[in-house]
Amino acid sequence: MEEQKTAMPQALANDHESLQGKTILLGVSGSIAAYKAAYLASALHKRGCDVHVLMTANACQFINPITFETLTDNKCLVDTFDRNFQYNVEHVSLAKRADLCLLAPASANLIARLAYGMADDMLTTTVLACSCPKLVAPAMNTGMLQNPITQDNLARMERFGFTLIQPAIGYLACGDTGAGKFPEPEVLLEHVYQQLCCPKDLAGVRVLVTAGPTREAVDPVRFLSNRSSGKMGYAVARAASLRGAQVTLVSGPTALEEPPFVQTVQVTSAREMFEAVTSRAGEQDIIIKAAAVADYRPAQVYEEKIKKGPQGDLNAIELERTDDILAWLGAHKTPGQFLCGFSMETQNVEENSRAKLYKKNVDMIAANSLRTQGAGFAGDTNVLTLITRDGARQLEKMSKREAAHCLLDEIQRRRNGG
Ligand code: CTP
Repeated sequence: MEEQKTAMPQALANDHESLQGKTILLGVSGSIAAYKAAYLASALHKRGCDVHVLMTANACQFINPITFETLTDNKCLVDTFDRNFQYNVEHVSLAKRADLCLLAPASANLIARLAYGMADDMLTTTVLACSCPKLVAPAMNTGMLQNPITQDNLARMERFGFTLIQPAIGYLACGDTGAGKFPEPEVLLEHVYQQLCCPKDLAGVRVLVTAGPTREAVDPVRFLSNRSSGKMGYAVARAASLRGAQVTLVSGPTALEEPPFVQTVQVTSAREMFEAVTSRAGEQDIIIKAAAVADYRPAQVYEEKIKKGPQGDLNAIELERTDDILAWLGAHKTPGQFLCGFSMETQNVEENSRAKLYKKNVDMIAANSLRTQGAGFAGDTNVLTLITRDGARQLEKMSKREAAHCLLDEIQRRRNGG
């Protein structure tokens, strides 16, 4: 079946995460995981990257270079002495143009050769000439990976500036289960984003983000909660880490994968979130409270499951207020700390949200309405209004990922006195 080249969204003009025009060298070596590199090459190409695939001779036993050529629109390089080149010294020319070199999958043999600077084929010759960031994603049998020789080679590569992408743990093609599995292409893409996209304007900045709902136990079986998916908060944590921040994400229960490059603290109840946030608050430069914290919890948590009793139906659960974490943060704000709350409303959005700005002593409230199309809990888009003491800025409908960047832009502008 012919590959749909327009199936994935192209980079938007205001896309903070654009990879448009980036030159990526993708080194593919002999591993059964080589087929997954085809998906990766395609995903990078669709995001506007100029992808050049270099294969070892062994890799060609697993996947045909034509696959990569079709997916990237570039010649796939294997043989150093192939005369059919665009440039005279192809390996040097490519090495000079590359923004990133990604070795995926990297076999034990490729790792050994690169660890010792051997340049005996097109791939190793080119990598040796590269001065751009280099990522290595090993994929092999657990025994081969854990062999001290391979471990020593990987440590050596790291010492010489390669960044190691840890192999996943799981069922391997050889039938074993263990470490050595090639990470999913989505995980590798996140590493590419981390290296190549966004100005690192939050480098050295400590950011704490909260996300998701909280759950307030009624008994061991039941709880009170809300419809928050955590997507907005996770998008903010991810965006801040792509921009170089040191990010802590305090998350209520969600169905989302923990973002890479972020320290995630999982909590369940409002009380646990209060503890996790307040114990870390003092050392943060920016705190963004996107979590939908429960306002009430059952005054009494039953130790055993509440049974339908002979005395009739359960028709009331006595509730008590939870601690307001954002209000606590507003009262304990450290000098220079930027505090951003979220506000979810169904009516009088701006008025109600502005009231929270003063009541909780925060610098900004990102307000959204459940009544606006494209905003709200479960979807992938949002329509935010950024409310500050001096005004309100309505953002258009956009992906939660892009909204997260616009929120951070506004915070940075204000932190820098703009
Ligand atoms: N928040 C909090 N702790 C709570 C309740 C809310 O930290 N116990 C924070 C949320 O994380 C969010 C902001 O306060 O950043 C606003 O939450 P929201 O529920 O919209 O407002 P409330 O202040 O709870 O007011 P109301 O429920 O009356 O709208």
